[in-house]
Amino acid sequence: MFGPILRGTRVTLRPPRKEDLETYLAWFADPEVTRYQPRSTPFSPAQEEAWFTKTGEDPNSVVWAIEVDGKAVGTTGIGQIDWLHRHGTTGITIGEKSLWRQGLASEAMALRTRHAFRELNLHKLKTQAYMENEGSRRALAKTGYTQAGIQRQEFYKDGRWHDVWEGELLREDWEKAQPA
Ligand SMILES: CC(C)(COP(=O)(O)OP(=O)(O)OC[C@H]1O[C@@H](n2cnc3c(N)ncnc32)[C@H](O)[C@@H]1OP(=O)(O)O)[C@@H](O)C(=O)NCCC(=O)NCCS
Repeated sequence: MFGPILRGTRVTLRPPRKEDLETYLAWFADPEVTRYQPRSTPFSPAQEEAWFTKTGEDPNSVVWAIEVDGKAVGTTGIGQIDWLHRHGTTGITIGEKSLWRQGLASEAMALRTRHAFRELNLHKLKTQAYMENEGSRRALAKTGYTQAGIQRQEFYKDGRWHDVWEGELLREDWEKAQPA
């Protein structure tokens, strides 16, 4: 599924569009952007098209483009949703490097989390980040995720093994942190 439009202060989450795919191709071909992601090889245009079609039809995932000033700057979503046990796994990429460290991921995560709990009625969100990915882990911590575990030497990249931080966020903990 594609997610509905969610408006924040600076960030808007909106359904992805076919014309975004060319931008996505450039992001995922950039080793700086994929530095903390397991995949080392870029997607082909055909793979992007297939992803767009498959994700749009997948009842167990919700995907958004992250937009700032009318321009797609990233992508985020909740995947592998288990509707019985009501959990899903989140991910994010801010592909526009010039906009890193401006709070965009933190704002996008806040919008995504509210939708997951208050609209989709999920009970828990899970995620993974490379231990070294300080930006991702800080944004996740600000959203309320806490450490569920560490997978040692889970991914091999750039000639060495990387530990992976596993995070989780329970709805009840997130609700307690919301203003009344
Ligand atoms: C990781 C990523 C999502 C962070 O996005 P962002 O919009 O820069 O994040 P924010 O601006 O919301 O930053 C959150 C916090 O982390 C800090 N931060 C961001 N990047 C950082 C970095 N490289 N090193 C240290 N701290 C960093 C910010 O200063 C901010 O801290 P603060 O709230 O204490 O001021 C973005 O860099 C990205 O998409 N990278 C490539 C793909 C990726 O790694 N995705 C995540 C896979 S798990």
